[in-house]
Amino acid sequence: MFSTTQKIGILGGGQLGKMLCLAAAPWDFKTCILDASPDFPAGQVCSEFTVGDFNNYDNVLAFGRDKDVLTIEIEHVNTEALHELKRTGKAVHPSPEALDIIKDKGLQKEFYRMNNIPTAPFELFENEQDLLEAVESGRWNLPFVQKSRTAGYDGKGVAILRTAEDLKTKLLPGPCLAEGLAPIQTEIAVIAARNASGEVAVFPAVEMDFHPEANLVELLICPARISALVAAQAEVLAEQVISAFDICGLLAVEMFLCADGQLWVNEVAPRPHNSGHHTIDSAVTSQYQQHLRAICDLPLGDTAQIQPALMLNLLGADGHKGPVHYEGVAECLAISGVHVHLYGKALTSPFRKMGHVTITAETIEDAFKKAEFVKNILKVHSESQTL
Ligand SMILES: Nc1ncnc2c1ncn2[C@@H]1O[C@H](COP(=O)(O)OP(=O)(O)O)[C@@H](O)[C@H]1O
Ligand SMILES: [Mg+2]
Repeated sequence: MFSTTQKIGILGGGQLGKMLCLAAAPWDFKTCILDASPDFPAGQVCSEFTVGDFNNYDNVLAFGRDKDVLTIEIEHVNTEALHELKRTGKAVHPSPEALDIIKDKGLQKEFYRMNNIPTAPFELFENEQDLLEAVESGRWNLPFVQKSRTAGYDGKGVAILRTAEDLKTKLLPGPCLAEGLAPIQTEIAVIAARNASGEVAVFPAVEMDFHPEANLVELLICPARISALVAAQAEVLAEQVISAFDICGLLAVEMFLCADGQLWVNEVAPRPHNSGHHTIDSAVTSQYQQHLRAICDLPLGDTAQIQPALMLNLLGADGHKGPVHYEGVAECLAISGVHVHLYGKALTSPFRKMGHVTITAETIEDAFKKAEFVKNILKVHSESQTL
């Protein structure tokens, strides 16, 4: 439904919430954020800010009562309240049912198994002790990847264990899953969108390069440098996954392109995603606008890429902690096709996501040349205090 008076409630006021609000502004949609502080990125641009805890049942219920559509920018929210709001007839997208599965990496993996979605082989464990016993008894073998079922994001709940020594030092505590090490050739992501009318659209696959230390995506390349056949297979797989989850809104599907050419689903995020930031500056429709179209059951937008693009996450420099100070922004803005996005976080710390830069060019090679310059010149420092 298109209505400039409808209130869109968004759980979470970080950068994804901010960019969602910015995308809603041209249509005059009313964006309402629930999060701990209006000083967070979305607080600067939303129509209405409610201070509260999106993990608290009462806070989410009270927030949702006068909203027309509810959505999220982070999946770790109180879904019991969302179930209740849905029962009372509210539009909740993504559905609390899908969120309950996706929030828990163990349930997510079981969902893939049940729905014949290719994924790395895995087993669930009550805790790290049970996993250790499985390794000692030869039921599970090194090397493998251990993932916390609920605590993880940005690589924080993921441990890659290769040696017996790693078993002593790297195991993460608590309920977890162990997963076979994927023979990764390239990591890609495909963002799919679906509206309540059942229309589905997918953005072209992007390639993700990881920061070796921070385990964060450092560089993103769109379109991914993969064959047209694999790109088409990845798009079909993303459509299959969003349909299986029965989601309205966006679903970012992270995949491993394995050495033998197979695609495995790694994990999904039912919201705008880091791997779709570039669409603001390089695609016909941005992922944020697409999310709004999808949750409001509007026609989905054209997902075509206008120009090749690279996206660099602007991470807080190592050794810098405190009030943020950006260096080299003006020099970067002098270059055609360099789009700087700062999230408006007051404080920086090592590897904190403070913004991103999208670089568009006629060819991906030209974009790489500009990116080299940007990487060398644009720095996220603290004003005075260093670690
Ligand atoms: N089974 C696996 N085999 C090899 N590498 C993996 C595997 N699972 C995860 N990784 C690596 O760890 C990264 C983070 O894992 P992921 O499950 O995506 O967690 P996060 O929620 O932190 O993004 C992946 O992008 C990939 O580089
Ligand atoms: Mg991931």
